[in-house]
Amino acid sequence: MVIFTLTAVLLGFLARNALAQGTPPAGCCATAAMLRFECSRLTIERLDPLVNPGLLGTPHNHQIVGGNAFNASMPPVDYDPATESTCTSCTFSEDFSNYWTANLYFQARNGSFKRVPQLVNLGLRGREGITVYYIPPYDGKTKVTAFKKGFRMLVGDAMLRQAQGQQKQLCHRCTPNVAQDPFGGAPCTGDDTAYLPLEKCGGGIRTTITFPTCWDGKNLDSPDHKSHVAYPSSGSFETTGPCPASHPVRLPQLMYEVMWDTRQFNDEEWPEKGKQPFVYSMGDATGYGQHGDYIFGWKEDALQKAMDHRCSGDSCAGVIKTQTADDAMACTLPQTVQENIEGWIPSLPGGAAITY
Ligand SMILES: *[C@@H]1O[C@H](CO)[C@@H](O)[C@H](O)[C@H]1NC(C)=O
Ligand SMILES: *[C@@H]1O[C@H](CO)[C@@H](O)[C@H](O)[C@H]1NC(C)=O
Repeated sequence: MVIFTLTAVLLGFLARNALAQGTPPAGCCATAAMLRFECSRLTIERLDPLVNPGLLGTPHNHQIVGGNAFNASMPPVDYDPATESTCTSCTFSEDFSNYWTANLYFQARNGSFKRVPQLVNLGLRGREGITVYYIPPYDGKTKVTAFKKGFRMLVGDAMLRQAQGQQKQLCHRCTPNVAQDPFGGAPCTGDDTAYLPLEKCGGGIRTTITFPTCWDGKNLDSPDHKSHVAYPSSGSFETTGPCPASHPVRLPQLMYEVMWDTRQFNDEEWPEKGKQPFVYSMGDATGYGQHGDYIFGWKEDALQKAMDHRCSGDSCAGVIKTQTADDAMACTLPQTVQENIEGWIPSLPGGAAITY
């Protein structure tokens, strides 16, 4: 009964998602196939092997999930998360990739900060973390090329504090309740905003970070960690439009969903009306600086197989392997840079000043 209920929730979610993203082409799947799974918190700390390789104590902290080979310096190809890791905090046990985003903090009326924990998404089990999606095109047949060993990329700009210059597909949603009902449609549609919502959200704030789906076919990375990939020239939820000639190779659409549980903060703690209490770890109370980082680390061709089979949800028996939520949650990493990530603190870790 419990399993049935969870399945119903998940299928309901996927179906709503598929419908919201636009009607699939005739003859296509009733529900769009997509991997959608939980990656529990691996660690929270001030490391960024992509943007600040080797630096111990980056200017702001991140929520990191995935393989436990995560480390301050992860040189491409030589340091392969799939072979260096001994466990992963994700449901798919062959996925040792690392996924990370900035953390959200709440600043109380008295100026103290507290980290906003994350809710585990509908139908999934875990401890905080990120919901990860890999989405192939809807038609059920267009070939996607899984990321190669050593591949990495970045969406967003941690320094940005205004709408101008905002990369596509980074959005916030003020969810009405934890059941996300009524469902607000596909990411970055409806009432979604690039900036952080200012009102109290009954079900917390959802962040979606959707990566480009077109690759130049040659470079595993680029100096800005962005220009080796591109968004399609058109298409609603990005999967449908053609890739530009410069970036002809169709990738799975990688998306992160982070459900910030903002419900614990009470009226006495909220600042005076009109002041944004939520602030990202880089001192960004606007929300425009939110960003997502990715280092590919699936074992061998596991992701390619999952895409070719149009695996959906968080299991695909006989094609790719899963582990229990308890095993995934048991995979954690101690902090390299020790600092308090729970409770009230006088300033943001790393000490960033706040921009409203
Ligand atoms: C990263 O991992 C490698 C290989 O295990 C290790 O030699 C190195 O010291 C680690 N670097 C840091 C900064 O932790
Ligand atoms: C600030 O407010 C929070 C929430 O009410 C409280 O727990 C914390 O101790 C206060 N911090 C200081 C320094 O007074």
